[in-house]
Amino acid sequence: MSVRKNFPILKTKINGHDLVYFDNAATTQKPQAMIDALSEFYQKYNANVHRSLNPLADLATQKYEKTRQAVADFLSAQKNEIIFTRNTTEGINLVAKTFARSFLKSGDVVLLSVAEHHSNIVPWLQLKKEIGIELAYLPIDKNGYLDIEQFKIMLTDKVKFISIQAASNVLGSIHDYQTILKLAKAKNITTLLDAAQIVSHVGLDVKELACDFLVFSAHKMFGPTGVGVIYGRKELLQMMPAFLGGGDMIEQVLKDNFTTNAIPHKFEAGTPNIADVVAFQSSLEFLQNLTWENIQKEEKELTDYLWQEMQKLDFIDIYGKNLLNKHLPIISFNLKNAHAHDVAEILGEQGIIVRAGQHCTQVLHDTLGVSATVRASLAFYNTKKEIDILIKALKEIYQKFKV
Ligand SMILES: Cc1ncc(COP(=O)(O)O)c(C=O)c1O
Repeated sequence: MSVRKNFPILKTKINGHDLVYFDNAATTQKPQAMIDALSEFYQKYNANVHRSLNPLADLATQKYEKTRQAVADFLSAQKNEIIFTRNTTEGINLVAKTFARSFLKSGDVVLLSVAEHHSNIVPWLQLKKEIGIELAYLPIDKNGYLDIEQFKIMLTDKVKFISIQAASNVLGSIHDYQTILKLAKAKNITTLLDAAQIVSHVGLDVKELACDFLVFSAHKMFGPTGVGVIYGRKELLQMMPAFLGGGDMIEQVLKDNFTTNAIPHKFEAGTPNIADVVAFQSSLEFLQNLTWENIQKEEKELTDYLWQEMQKLDFIDIYGKNLLNKHLPIISFNLKNAHAHDVAEILGEQGIIVRAGQHCTQVLHDTLGVSATVRASLAFYNTKKEIDILIKALKEIYQKFKV
């Protein structure tokens, strides 16, 4: 895809080999337009936001708020329903430690799934310790998708909050999150959708989805690190308490009391990550110019080719299935006789960047009965030729480890 030329890092060489970047589920690479916007901010507009009445601060504030509007448009939300955080992890923690801590009580059930990232398990385990909520884990079916039939059974009156991923960072499965959110809404259960993996592959419309909270990280969608997003339904954001206390989140501070600012500022204490938020706007523009249609066409071809070629390797165990055109360009696997870490290290020496380990999903790995996997995760700027390079390298590694 000619879009590759927009990503300068893709020209990098590692040990004399062309970089084959297959770790997009960990973080995506950045288009030149975003890199330029970041440096332009520091060269031309650097000032603090929402504080001073001077032309430079005005400009910085306008640019910062322009990104908020762009994110709101991207999700079909209202501008004051968008909160900037550092990442998805902080977004889930904020919701657990403000909304859930205030409105859930001992014995209430929070429904997660066995496929969740640690960032969507640990905050709930912390809350369980703190206020005595109970956790229930939705299983995956034999193909690696959240089990909807089980979900219907588990949706008892004790379930008061559902926090699930839209897609798995390990199995690549795009779950039927629409049905889960719809059934939850019918029972008036509050929901959070972890969109960290899906957000760079599928358009999301929060009005259509009817979710209460949705979180993601800019760095997984061709944006800068250090910027996360929470979409929260206005009525909920208004009723939940602030997260951190400090500047910008207050209306008044008295010696023995304070009142909070309006949303979304109530949740953005202190100087935010201004430059990265500003630069993120150009990543959104970049994605929108590409169009979902083109991105999905390119990614489907890559996903199908990757699966087809991997399945020809009889010395490999693959986790999950590429079903119903509902799959991200992600595949997790193990080579017989070789540890995942060794495989990733040897591939890395040849410039092929994959991830090995548990990918922050120990519960899922326990469920799969494996201690670690190798994960290749692609984006639209990858190519079939790069997939061929991976396949050839895996064959060579297998020969080396064969007993
Ligand atoms: C499904 C999912 N949720 C949450 C996260 C956490 O994202 P971050 O590290 O940007 O907070 C990740 C990161 O890989 C993820 O894949």
